[in-house]
Amino acid sequence: MTTALDLTNRVIAVTGSTSGIGEVLARRLAACGAAVVVNSARSASAGLSLAEELPDALYVAGDIADPGTAEALVGAVENRWGRLDGLVNNAAVTTAVPLHDIDAVTPAQWERVLSVNVIGTFLVSQAALPLLRESDDGWIINVTSIAGVRQTGSSLPYAVSKAAVDHLTTLLAKFAGGEIRVNAVAPGLVDTPWTEGWEAQRELVAATAPLHRTALPDDVADACIGIVGSRYLTGQTVVVDGGLSLMI
Ligand SMILES: NC(=O)c1ccc[n+]([C@@H]2O[C@H](COP(=O)([O-])OP(=O)(O)OC[C@H]3O[C@@H](n4cnc5c(N)ncnc54)[C@H](OP(=O)(O)O)[C@@H]3O)[C@@H](O)[C@H]2O)c1
Repeated sequence: MTTALDLTNRVIAVTGSTSGIGEVLARRLAACGAAVVVNSARSASAGLSLAEELPDALYVAGDIADPGTAEALVGAVENRWGRLDGLVNNAAVTTAVPLHDIDAVTPAQWERVLSVNVIGTFLVSQAALPLLRESDDGWIINVTSIAGVRQTGSSLPYAVSKAAVDHLTTLLAKFAGGEIRVNAVAPGLVDTPWTEGWEAQRELVAATAPLHRTALPDDVADACIGIVGSRYLTGQTVVVDGGLSLMI
């Protein structure tokens, strides 16, 4: 028998949650009863309205690559609720450079993508760990990508950054302490503002993947909710791609 996940009295932070996967997941976690911290770097009005709309939520503006953001986010959580049970590291950036165009990749692209996707993810996790360790069910979910597990993706720095976060996931699962569960979800192509205009890729996925469609943000949220309820799962990357990675 399955029961709905009950997150009453739980506090969960979702980085990059004013759009796409992060926004849908923030809404789904709130619907399960959680208090939610919404974050984005630029879209402050969307963040403030989402926090206003959810039953118990707070918006914290800040680019996760800025070390001050991790401190501000965790400080705001501590002031408001005095606890943190879950962290979803969802915020990320890319730069569009075809994977075969190795000469076109610049140091500035590497720096920006790694500083947000890898270092930012680490900094927010590091700042959150003391509160997560105090929870009786502390967890982290990192949103990575099929680009980190197959030779695909919007650019080489992006693909490498997502592979790095998958490995960070295993290291934190092993060393974070406090019985914190740390897992990653690696989506295939998801219909969000990020992939607006990617019609050729959408058609390719529909033709190639065993499940013959791209993902909706809810498909990724379903996997995250499943992981939150899986109390014996840690150190894993769950690929949510309709089977695409079996074919490429
Ligand atoms: N869509 C896909 O096909 C796909 C596939 C695989 C993996 N993913 C991963 O899924 C996650 C979400 O992607 P999405 O498609 O939902 O993207 P999205 O709709 O573009 O949303 C991205 C969110 O992250 C925020 N954000 C961006 N840079 C940030 C930063 N430096 N600091 C804090 N917040 C930041 C954005 O707000 P602001 O821009 O206002 O800051 C927005 O709220 C990412 O980790 C992405 O790599 C997506």
